Amino acid sequence: MKFNPADNIQDLQYFGEFGGVNPSISDSSTYTFLSAKIMLDTFEGNADGCYLYSRHSTPSNLCLGEALAAMEGTETANVAASGMGAITPVLLQLVGAGEHIVSSRTIYGGTYAFLKNFTPRLAIETTFVDITKLDIVEAAITNKTKVLFCESVSNPLLEVADIQALSTLAKKYNLKLVVDNTFSPLSISPAKLGADVVCHSLTKFINGTSDAVGGVACGTQEFIDDLRNVNDGASMLLGSTMDSVRASSILKNMRTLPLRMKQHSHNASFLAHKFEADGLKTVYPGLVSHSSHQLFTSMMNTAYGFGGMLTIDVGSLDKATALMELMQMKNIGYLAVSLGFYKTLFSAPGTSTSSEISVEEQKEMGLTNGLIRFSIGLDNDIERTYKMMKSCMIKLGVL
Ligand SMILES: Cc1ncc(COP(=O)(O)O)c(C=O)c1O
Repeated sequence: MKFNPADNIQDLQYFGEFGGVNPSISDSSTYTFLSAKIMLDTFEGNADGCYLYSRHSTPSNLCLGEALAAMEGTETANVAASGMGAITPVLLQLVGAGEHIVSSRTIYGGTYAFLKNFTPRLAIETTFVDITKLDIVEAAITNKTKVLFCESVSNPLLEVADIQALSTLAKKYNLKLVVDNTFSPLSISPAKLGADVVCHSLTKFINGTSDAVGGVACGTQEFIDDLRNVNDGASMLLGSTMDSVRASSILKNMRTLPLRMKQHSHNASFLAHKFEADGLKTVYPGLVSHSSHQLFTSMMNTAYGFGGMLTIDVGSLDKATALMELMQMKNIGYLAVSLGFYKTLFSAPGTSTSSEISVEEQKEMGLTNGLIRFSIGLDNDIERTYKMMKSCMIKLGVL
């Protein structure tokens, strides 16, 4: 049977403490034990169903983790206080001093800064590559390499990683393939394509209301246990724990993710086709002109479309700024970073979410000054939105 992440979300069944239809929120930082022996067993990781201390795990966090694992088709998952709070422990768990990571060069600016500026202090080196060129990826692997890292759809250039091919490479060299799937929840299921660990910033589409920060790492029971190990688990020891109240609110929002992703994709696809027809330089994986359109099509869970993210290049930062300000004034959306909100969000990545990447490197990877990244909203009438956008573009001479 074909993997359908929405069915897995639909089929989640939790009962609250008093028969509630939502799981009860565990409002405790510490937990009692009926015997000292069970406490010891729990410390050693051998007492299923017992809780120790909320930095380790909480019933609410476990519920959200299990829901996300069901969505990604992994054995289990560990939630964290932010996307970075999920990604950084995963990498530190898998790679140690003297070892090496091969990473896509087009990734979220924060992850890039972590690998470029922070992990070298721990003697972990990273080679950044064009992830779409498998021969270049393979050539970058050394006998010190432990991890291949990429985003399924990259921030902000919307390059698409061939997860199956990267997984074959990872297996050949005994590496772990870690995929950040923040841009394409439901549309792409990286673990089903061979990724070992799938991370998300829950802050974006999965929560979807721009009121919470969160993250998750989905993987095998063994790896998630490693992350939570009280002696040497990076998640446990670095301590980026999600609050139980937040876990409960994100779980509730997650239930509408399939509906929302369909609408985000529908709207983004509509606009991308219109923009391209208008002669704008438009990047969207759903456009036949996208260099990885076929690849995305071959990997996707069709029902959820090509996602809600698109970019246009309006030629200069001045024009990009003027257009974004005008669109905000006309109430088309917000000039803001982040993604996955009900309203459209737009920003110029070169001077915002990717500003950690040096200007020379931005140039090399094709991140131009005039690039505007859109997270397209849930607009009920996208044709009306398009007309409003077009009139802003005409007014400013972008069209
Ligand atoms: C692709 C991607 N991964 C990770 C992150 C980091 O997530 P958070 O801000 O929740 O730490 C972001 C944030 O923008 C992102 O876009």
